[in-house]
Amino acid sequence: MDIADCYIKVRHRTEAICEPLQIEDYVVQPVVDVSPPKWHIGHTTWFFETFILKPYFAEYQEFDPNYNYVFNSYYETVGNRVIRTDRGNLSRPTVIDIKRYRKYVDDAMLNFITCGDISDDVKELLILGFNHEEQHQELLLTDIKYILGNNPLFPAYSKDYAAPKSHKTGAPFIKLNEGIYEIGFEGEGFSFDNELNRHKVYLNAFEISPDLVTNAEYLEFINAGGYHDFRHWHAAGWDWVNNNKAEAPMYWHNIDGEWHNYTYHGLQPVHMHDAVTHISYYEAYAYASWKGMRLPTEFEWEAAAKQFNWGLRWEWTESAYLPYPGFAKAPGAIGEYNGKFMVGQKVLRGASEVTSPNHSRITYRNFFQPELRWQFTGIRLAK
Ligand SMILES: [Fe+2]
Repeated sequence: MDIADCYIKVRHRTEAICEPLQIEDYVVQPVVDVSPPKWHIGHTTWFFETFILKPYFAEYQEFDPNYNYVFNSYYETVGNRVIRTDRGNLSRPTVIDIKRYRKYVDDAMLNFITCGDISDDVKELLILGFNHEEQHQELLLTDIKYILGNNPLFPAYSKDYAAPKSHKTGAPFIKLNEGIYEIGFEGEGFSFDNELNRHKVYLNAFEISPDLVTNAEYLEFINAGGYHDFRHWHAAGWDWVNNNKAEAPMYWHNIDGEWHNYTYHGLQPVHMHDAVTHISYYEAYAYASWKGMRLPTEFEWEAAAKQFNWGLRWEWTESAYLPYPGFAKAPGAIGEYNGKFMVGQKVLRGASEVTSPNHSRITYRNFFQPELRWQFTGIRLAK
């Protein structure tokens, strides 16, 4: 597929994700981590406009200079912006305005890609733009789930959404020998800067489960009083449990003694064989502790990942999100993409059922604060 087709395909997918929404769904921001869908569709457009059209396409006329303030996410290099908590307070630009902005930038981008002589540097930025938009496609799906799943009417997102089936192998834990393993991205193709450099780590012998923890297994922890036993929790986790009155994964509701959870199809009885999801790192850690086990480090996960199926859940690891040896930030605004977030977050490995197709790799490093659970997070045990 040529690069113009790739551009069209990635942009269409974002629009297809928004297809089932009503106009009001595009605007709200129920919590700071959830951005309004209209902000995502504007921000992904702004990314191409700011990092490709404005610097590299001489004849490009900016759509609206004020949009930089509205759709800049976190790039200090690119100037001031609406604070993140206020994204849901903006009734303007309207959804129609933002769709017009998308069309305007798409037309310019396709002119630029097909008529101009694209340098390798610009090609690299384009591919970063595709990967950036794919990350926002996943955020759109999880943010839409939060918006609808916290509405008292529990509206379905789309009856067409097909959740992939979990398949538990029931096989014994996979054993890996102690030794030196190579970690990080190498070779052709795209990777984010945080997957570099490839380097060696020494691992003690360990065992890792071929399966994700299921809802049925997690329910045993709930029923055993796991949320009421401080011994399984970090101090910060125990504060989180108490401050939030947590007693089950996000989206779970106990209705007349039966657990239900919000899904893209609306509120449904919990499918017990599915992999548990929407849990914080604190909960993943506490569950592992209750089982007398632990979470894998990100290095153990990567060393073992060819031997199990992954991709249904972002799997919390025991690793802090830190730079690899030799990590270097790119010069300019693009250097703000990953590096400045390497503090106070945990690494998650794998991918989830709403990760964009072809967006996952064995070396991919996702990262979130330990209390967050609106992503499709899950648990794989190690010992
Ligand atoms: Fe972004």
